[in-house]
Amino acid sequence: MTEIVKIIYGDKEYQLPVIVGTEGEKAIDISNLRAQSGLITLDTGYGNTGSCTSAITFMDGEKGILRYRGIPVEQLAEQSTFKETAYLLVHGRLPTQQELTDFSVMLNDNSLVHEDMRAFYENFPRSSHPMGILSSMANALRSFYPELHNLEEEINITVTRLLSKTRTMAAMSYKISRGHKMVYPRPDLAYCANFLNMMFDSPVRPYEVDEDVVKALNVFWILHADHEQNCSTSAVRMVGSAKVNLYAAISAGIAALWGPLHGGANQAVIEMLSDIAANKNMDSAIKRAKDKNDSFRLMGFGHRVYKTFDPRMKIMKKMCDTLLDKLRISDPLLDVAKELENIALNDDYFIEHNLYPNVDFYAGIVLRAIGIPTNMFTVMFAIGRLPGWIAQWKESQDDPNWKLCRPRQIYTGPPTTDYLPIEKR
Ligand code: ACO
Repeated sequence: MTEIVKIIYGDKEYQLPVIVGTEGEKAIDISNLRAQSGLITLDTGYGNTGSCTSAITFMDGEKGILRYRGIPVEQLAEQSTFKETAYLLVHGRLPTQQELTDFSVMLNDNSLVHEDMRAFYENFPRSSHPMGILSSMANALRSFYPELHNLEEEINITVTRLLSKTRTMAAMSYKISRGHKMVYPRPDLAYCANFLNMMFDSPVRPYEVDEDVVKALNVFWILHADHEQNCSTSAVRMVGSAKVNLYAAISAGIAALWGPLHGGANQAVIEMLSDIAANKNMDSAIKRAKDKNDSFRLMGFGHRVYKTFDPRMKIMKKMCDTLLDKLRISDPLLDVAKELENIALNDDYFIEHNLYPNVDFYAGIVLRAIGIPTNMFTVMFAIGRLPGWIAQWKESQDDPNWKLCRPRQIYTGPPTTDYLPIEKR
């Protein structure tokens, strides 16, 4: 039987049904509240607001749980590949061998980028941030690859185009930023190895694919593949709700992810750790992070939903140790990170505020070990998040209860005011 929440307002009582998810989470369905009572709800930052029902990702911030389509992220990180996880997210289930092979063929067939798009890269100022470039390029894809007539075919091809070409475009931007010749995708290499080869192969130093690095990249991207209704995913859903094409919606997601409070945190963490290592100012960093009058925050700490350890961070930290060990790399920033984590986890301020390291805290050290330059860290996050954005967009488009996203507000400006001609002001 449906549970009911009663709201008493004035001399009237309103009954609102309670919606229950498959993991027992509950929400008050307020879809008829305004029509019945004239009231809206106000929730700045949406911390208490569900924007949709979704069958893609489940997370429990109190228990530190994350599952894609029901499968724990720990199992996917251990046993799956990024390509297979992308299929799982977008299509709703793990592929059969034949489906995975077909998906690989499609990714390969769509991996080239129109040669004319190179002109864009060459004309961005050299100092442009790669996230700004990537967002523009994702949007530009629509001009090069126009709409198909069959909707299902359109969606399948657009999805593979985005997954495959974004990877090529990211590597291309790196090569161009270095003034080097771009490396084309190779049909004999799988998704992650292909990306690494496009990034690091050079006529004077052929790239040798290292299986440990490939595994690390697979895990890195699996951990970033979806995270339910976060800022960038909500941007994709909201922009997509205007029935704009998928490329434009993804471009909006990339722009949102760029922010340092969201995906940009992985770059900000490395900058913070480098500063601490160079200036030996760990104590003052902790002090500043606790100071209400200082806007400085410990980057890679805290999360809107996780109030315990971020499960992705645990996997990332373990992988970071394994990878550095295998590659025989000694990164001084890893020592700084571990010391900082240790101090923060034992500090009353961080304990009382439930602030734990998030996925970004060790992500940058993994990326450094792979050889990714710091300004490309958030691009790496964006490639990883693509399957999630696409799955969420697809789910919203298929929703029989689909609606244009259009929140309301409580107006706090001046009451009606007469226009004053300029000579009287
Ligand atoms: N360092 C110091 N204090 C912090 C931090 C931090 N990293 N994060 C939150 N706090 C404090 C705030 O100052 C605030 O304190 P107060 O209640 O005494 O005023 C309290 O914790 C709550 O902070 P809010 O900003 O309200 O919490 P919110 O849920 O909005 O924050 C966020 C989440 C934005 C991620 C925040 O923790 C943060 O800025 N972290 C650093 C940036 C970061 O690592 N972002 C990556 C997030 S993961 C991702 O997007 C992949």
